[in-house]
Amino acid sequence: MTTSSAPGKIYLFGEHAVVYGEPAVPCAIERRARVTVEQREDSHLRVHADDLSLDGFTVEYSGATDTAPDIDVSESLIQAAMGYVDAAVRQARDAADAPDAGFDITIESDIPLGAGLGSSAAVTVAGIDAATRELGVPLEPAEVADRAFQAEYEVQEGQASRADTFCSAVGGAVRVEGEDCRAIDAPDLPIVVGFDGGAGDTGELVAGVRELRETYGFAADTVAAIGDIVREGERSLADEDVERLGELMDFNHGLLEALGVSSRSLDNMVWAARDAGAYGAKLTGAGGGGCIVALDDSEETETALRFTPGCEETFRAGLDREGVRLEEQ
Ligand code: MEV
Repeated sequence: MTTSSAPGKIYLFGEHAVVYGEPAVPCAIERRARVTVEQREDSHLRVHADDLSLDGFTVEYSGATDTAPDIDVSESLIQAAMGYVDAAVRQARDAADAPDAGFDITIESDIPLGAGLGSSAAVTVAGIDAATRELGVPLEPAEVADRAFQAEYEVQEGQASRADTFCSAVGGAVRVEGEDCRAIDAPDLPIVVGFDGGAGDTGELVAGVRELRETYGFAADTVAAIGDIVREGERSLADEDVERLGELMDFNHGLLEALGVSSRSLDNMVWAARDAGAYGAKLTGAGGGGCIVALDDSEETETALRFTPGCEETFRAGLDREGVRLEEQ
């Protein structure tokens, strides 16, 4: 039996634009998904999941998730979670040259599903790490990142960047531009997260931006302008200039809003954080619902978010400098 864990992440800058080759800067946060894998005698998969911001569920199946599991939670979220588990198992089988390996898999996570905090990437990264170790072929974090990207790419039908999976695998702050992924220096940041309890559909949101970008030159310019914000943001990060980082986050949110990926509850939370005196605030991840991230070293933003209509949960999250790791074997 092998357990690995991997962190979730927030985007300081650059989600969506990263899909079109612009740089992005995600940061791993101290919220983890843990995946426990035990090899079976047969080639079946049995998956049990708890704490995915859903009721627990157990699914047993022998291959792809073509039949909907009979469980009392949102089918699309289950289908999505199972898709990532399937794809992670395929990658592990491939890495170990063990096409018929079967597993009992348990997933625990304190990262809400689909909320923009990289839950699917963290589950995929931790799953590949645990399953390859269980099969006796441990991989370097960079290879786990690469295989996790292949898995996400497959599940998201080609609409995925390397940002989420690379950040979860290596931890800390990273910079991703196309195939070029690297860790970058970052100070400890006063990160506050607000969560509206909902989840956007990443595939649909990415497709919506793609369509706007193809229809209007100014939408393509908006995507390119996000790239400019990221480059400016990298300089502010190197200078440890939190005030400037906040200003740039506000700008980045405005452009994401223009690209149609914000929502009323995300905007409410962003404005609550700004009114509370945060350095800046923006949605994080694909959008449509889910989480915002703000920078504030006082308690004001958390207090304001607790009273903001539509905000279900708020918490402070430290930068997690560690990526995927073995918890138990
Ligand atoms: C989703 O967490 C981030 C997006 O940029 C998609 C991706 O990078 O794969 C919207």
